[in-house]
Amino acid sequence: MRTQVGIVGGGPAGLLLARLLGLAGIDAIVLERRTPEYLRARIRAGLLEQGTVDLLNDIGVGARLDRERLIHDGVELAFDGQRRRIDLKALSGKSVTIYGQAEIQNDLMDAHEAAGTPIVYAAEDVSLHGLTGEQPHLRYRKGGKSHDIACDFIAGCDGFHGVSRQAIPPDVLRIYEKVYPFGWLGILSETPPVNHELIYNNHERGFALCTMRSLTRSRYYLQVSAEEDAAHWSDDRFWTELKGRLPPDVAARLVTGPSIEKSVAPLRSFVAEPMRHGRLFLAGDAAHIVPPTGAKGLNLAAADVRFLAEALVAHYKTGSAQLLDGYSTKCLARVWKAQRFSWWMTSLTHRFPDASPFERRAQGAELAYITSSRAGQTTLAENYVGLPFA
Ligand code: APR
Ligand code: PHB
Repeated sequence: MRTQVGIVGGGPAGLLLARLLGLAGIDAIVLERRTPEYLRARIRAGLLEQGTVDLLNDIGVGARLDRERLIHDGVELAFDGQRRRIDLKALSGKSVTIYGQAEIQNDLMDAHEAAGTPIVYAAEDVSLHGLTGEQPHLRYRKGGKSHDIACDFIAGCDGFHGVSRQAIPPDVLRIYEKVYPFGWLGILSETPPVNHELIYNNHERGFALCTMRSLTRSRYYLQVSAEEDAAHWSDDRFWTELKGRLPPDVAARLVTGPSIEKSVAPLRSFVAEPMRHGRLFLAGDAAHIVPPTGAKGLNLAAADVRFLAEALVAHYKTGSAQLLDGYSTKCLARVWKAQRFSWWMTSLTHRFPDASPFERRAQGAELAYITSSRAGQTTLAENYVGLPFA
């Protein structure tokens, strides 16, 4: 077998890239470890920047998104019993979109089914070879048989636990990492959201986030210890703890109900540099992880893939390697801005178990400053809605 671009991973990054390449007439094969059923059911975050919505529309997978999305012009921060709204639209000119990333996975899979993109699901033991030569290739096993695909380029879109990043020699790769001393316990429930916009709550019992998937489906998160087991959280315990962390007027109108899903996710900041090694290009979570505060994960993956598709298309159309050569530097400039923002939003809204009384006071002052000064509000707003593309 041979293809122009071999894509490892069929999450949002891999499927977006495959679609962009397919539309430009470039062949790609996607190798994905999981089954389609597993991918379609995987629950993820739910907030999209306008740039991500535009990209989905450009590649023809925006129809259901346009029908079902909720558009939010603002977001709230709650602390010390007060609620402060940041008017995203007035401050930045942009809004954000609520639409489950799981829905995007489904929309992309449907588009690929219709287009007939070769996607190998349940591909086992994927490995990458010859990355610094002229003709890299991918090997995998399926149904007890080994397969080999010769490629011009390989895109490593296989997420944080994938094999692509690990195929880069450790002496070439620089890793920057920060692990937070807490995780998020999330639940999804078939209940109306407690507020029409998101509320990020900094409370002495810990951070809580009120978000949603639709007008009838809510998603709530609680800061918990990183080792917490979701099995120790009955629905009752979750709702009681959430109420305790919300401002009283919000807690009073919280509608509770049975959870559809409940899980704990650790919080991590991670960047691997460079995002290219020979003919391998990393994109999305394979190269970087942000803590979920601000929901930049999928938005960053979409930005990487947009740059990578542009560079590959330029290569095949003009023979120029200029954009491919600039890929890593261009992505990392955006990645680090989103890293800084996600880390800062996390630092602003969470209770750090080892914070000194001084640090706690400074955090309170920063919340007061950010929510009261127009400059402070603007710095949050312009990052939250997504920085402009260079
Ligand atoms: N071989 C093949 N596929 C693999 C392998 C492997 N060895 N390892 C992982 N994968 C697959 C995973 O099963 C997954 O479907 O790669 C895919 C990676 O997808 P994501 O983890 O979703 O990463 P990415 O596509 O970069 O998405 C970026 O989107 O929904 C959000 O929160 C999510 O931040 C993430 C963002
Ligand atoms: C979500 O809706 O799941 C979500 C929204 C905003 C965040 C994180 C998660 O900052």
